[in-house]
Amino acid sequence: MTASDGVVRAASAPEDLSPVLVWHPLAEQFRKALRLRIPGIPIETHAGVGRLRRPSAADVLLAWTLPPGALDQLPALRWIQVAGAGVDHFLMRDDLRPQVELTRSNGRFGLQVAEYVVGYLLHTLLGIEDYRRNQDRGVWRQLPRPLLSDRRIGIIGLGNIGSAIAERLTPFGVQILGVCRTARPVPHVARVFAKDDWHAMLPLCDALVVAAPLTTETAGMIDAKAIRALPAGAILLNVGRGGLLDEIALLEALRDGHLGAAILDVFQQEPLPADSPLWTEPRAWVTPHIAGPSEVDPIADEFSENYRHFVSDEPLLNRVERERGY
Ligand code: GLV
Repeated sequence: MTASDGVVRAASAPEDLSPVLVWHPLAEQFRKALRLRIPGIPIETHAGVGRLRRPSAADVLLAWTLPPGALDQLPALRWIQVAGAGVDHFLMRDDLRPQVELTRSNGRFGLQVAEYVVGYLLHTLLGIEDYRRNQDRGVWRQLPRPLLSDRRIGIIGLGNIGSAIAERLTPFGVQILGVCRTARPVPHVARVFAKDDWHAMLPLCDALVVAAPLTTETAGMIDAKAIRALPAGAILLNVGRGGLLDEIALLEALRDGHLGAAILDVFQQEPLPADSPLWTEPRAWVTPHIAGPSEVDPIADEFSENYRHFVSDEPLLNRVERERGY
């Protein structure tokens, strides 16, 4: 049971609690946070990037990324809670056995990514960078200053993150369009396009925010054709995954002026290689996959709630459907 203080009072005695391995750079903080929430929980931790020194008997794993073959070192594993929103990197693994349940975390990723998007959109539309450059050269020049409230923004992916972006953009008066697999109505989104007619949304968007999961269906969807369907001067933001976007087509569109700016938090290869032309492209903004960082407390809360389900044999929350890819 979860009491009002958030502590899991397990129905079972501590010796019946399932052993957990926390494999995360913040593993020690997770250990403390989980012990407060689930007294007696048996926890091993691993904060390193290499494999475990010896196999683990844990049947539960809380992790973000793991080296290849790491899951083979957990023969009793029954459930993995991914400490992030995207699970593509787990679904691609060779060592993920079919009977292992996979769940993801919501954390405060929606809020975090939405603040990132609002910040970068305002920064770009208000011309903050252009005025700084002009100031450096002592240039007094008034540039056009479009308002967010006269703009239309398209969001690809209207899950937890995409819908939080729509919510946070709404107070600026922006008109929001969106794409989701099932084309269901979504609060704050004026028009939702389905996966088979989403190209029709692109010419309507002054800015396009890519916030979809990476799956076999979405891989490479923002290709040259999609980029060219955006109006001239449009802004592209990618907070989903690098694999959704054709980086070569993007660079071409920045260089020939078709795109006004690209704001990129995720890349085909991370860290972005030192010789990537994106680093020095004047109208690309590169951030190192920080739009939605892992926070210990919200993830520990979600994990504890799910752990209670796990030890009571109840269905887990935020289950990943492997065939769907998220
Ligand atoms: C970050 O990219 C996440 O998937 O949580």
